[in-house]
Amino acid sequence: MTPQTDDQKLRLAHERAQQLLEQMTLREKIGQMTQVEKNSITPDEVREHAIGSVLSGGGGNPEPNSPQAWRDMVTSFVEASRTSRLGIPILYGVDAVHGHNNVKDATIFPHNIGLGATGNEDLVERIARATATEVSATGAQWNFAPAVSIPLDIRWGRTYEGYGQDTGLVARLASSYVKGLRGSDWAAPEAVLPSVKHFIGDGAARYGTSVRLQRLAQGDDRTMANAGVDDDMQKYLDAGAWTIDQGDAEGTDAWLREVALPPYRRAIEAGALNVMASYSTWNGTRMHANRELLQGLLKDELGFQGFVVSDWEAMEMLNPDYPTAIATSIEAGVDMSMVPFDYVRFIDTVELLVEDGRLSLERIDDAVRRILAVKIRMGLLDEPYDLPYISVVGSASHRSLAREAVAASQVLLKNKGDLLPLKKASLSILVAGEAAADVGLGCGGWTISWMGSRGSITRGSTILDGVRRHAQDCEIHHEPSGDGSVMADVGIVVVHEEPYAEGMGDRHELALPSDQVALVQRIRKRVDSLVVVLISGRPVVLGEVAEWADAIIAGWLPGSEADGVADPLFGATRYQAKLRYLWPVDQEHYPLHPFGEAQGVDQVVGAAWPIGFGLETEALD
Ligand code: BGC
Ligand code: BGC
Repeated sequence: MTPQTDDQKLRLAHERAQQLLEQMTLREKIGQMTQVEKNSITPDEVREHAIGSVLSGGGGNPEPNSPQAWRDMVTSFVEASRTSRLGIPILYGVDAVHGHNNVKDATIFPHNIGLGATGNEDLVERIARATATEVSATGAQWNFAPAVSIPLDIRWGRTYEGYGQDTGLVARLASSYVKGLRGSDWAAPEAVLPSVKHFIGDGAARYGTSVRLQRLAQGDDRTMANAGVDDDMQKYLDAGAWTIDQGDAEGTDAWLREVALPPYRRAIEAGALNVMASYSTWNGTRMHANRELLQGLLKDELGFQGFVVSDWEAMEMLNPDYPTAIATSIEAGVDMSMVPFDYVRFIDTVELLVEDGRLSLERIDDAVRRILAVKIRMGLLDEPYDLPYISVVGSASHRSLAREAVAASQVLLKNKGDLLPLKKASLSILVAGEAAADVGLGCGGWTISWMGSRGSITRGSTILDGVRRHAQDCEIHHEPSGDGSVMADVGIVVVHEEPYAEGMGDRHELALPSDQVALVQRIRKRVDSLVVVLISGRPVVLGEVAEWADAIIAGWLPGSEADGVADPLFGATRYQAKLRYLWPVDQEHYPLHPFGEAQGVDQVVGAAWPIGFGLETEALD
């Protein structure tokens, strides 16, 4: 028998899906179109309603949050679905956007902004493979990644989710990531379904257009309450939270096709079978209502044969009248709804819409056929295979891969007098800054909880650990707040952004906070040479710090193996990563919306460092 091509396998899966569809009741079909957050449903209810998918949102963790408890939780949902009338298994979905990041003690890789800086396709593919193995070991089969956004305004809180502003780079890395999640075949054990997101133009949302705050003002924002982010809400709102995310993107058709689209095209060519719709609008039309782009561009023109999932509660945003919102969205081409809370209301509503003739059965069948075809293509309807050993979660080999990625992602922005790599013979080194020894700050958002947080939130190493390992002959002092008096040959000051996710990270300004500027200033006076390492989800305005420092490193959000930051610092590896985002020199010259000339953002006046910049060093023996 000749081996089948991917296209043939998918066609067969669609044929099998059609046969299955013919045995289904309307409610069973709608069940398949429903994705519920795990805290809003039990395994028995999954069976009863023939639910298509369950997800863990950011921080949707079991108690205790351990790899084994994850596996038990996911397995209980999957097994319940296998005993529904037709035995169609759910797809369990997670946001493993930088490793299996909700799971305590999993390997946390650098966020995409760091992987973009490496520009290394092979590395990204290996990271995706390791992530897929960890995700599979906990029983899940779907990862809401990769984000292929082209963030234009870096004040956007999701900037770090994107690989960069260069669409060619994003397309290449997205394709590698998809291949890594697949492994040898979509039906192989340990293959994980990617969700390429957020279709389309999410990174073009304009400052001041987010609609999120209207929902907050109405006081019924369950999502915020659910995610436990209301405590410091006012502080974040004052700083600019929810000014950009989920807002209005506008632009030319040329930009859409030449800049925003190529990563989707490449990811689909690499075999991606799921795409997530964006909260944002495109030229005034909410993407979840955008039939021209979902049905027209994605499905008809690109020939996408997989299914489209909504973003979290995104259908409801379309219209205050719930049935109208749902009808519009499904009609536009959304196949599965990330409900996430009140799933019975969703199922009842869709049933009524069909009975009233407001939604065609044909569209429902198309949606369900797509969902089933993907499940069949992934082998979910075949005999279940054994899950990988749970010990792969956070394994030594995955951690060493993460450390390799951290070391490879460091962008050297300044290196006066070739200070770096540090020649370590008997130096005295003063390490300062809270982020030098804080795992949570190094991981950033989407780690253990939605927003991420400071502290020992999971197993991991720190920059200080790395310095200690490399500089065993040196005298090392560590001062988190830098208010001691010891003098040293070299100062390494680590400055940082507080962890955030999505619109909570939108900002009016990107200046370094004044207390951190003061910290750098204090240390400057106590050392001969000063290295500044920045732990952040995007470029920030450095101001005078850029003058004071002899060497400056963009360390991004390294994740659980932050000790890798020290590898190129001491010459164990080379600096060779490049900026994929323009780095603005001041507050007045943010690279805002260079529509039509997005490839030329580096021409914007006032760039401290252009896209493609990154000094190189040699490794020491
Ligand atoms: C969830 C996240 C989700 C967000 C939606 C949070 O409550 O935990 O997973 O992305 O809501 O805005
Ligand atoms: C985010 C998505 C994420 C989803 C599930 C949403 O708020 O926009 O990126 O995949 O939540 O957590």
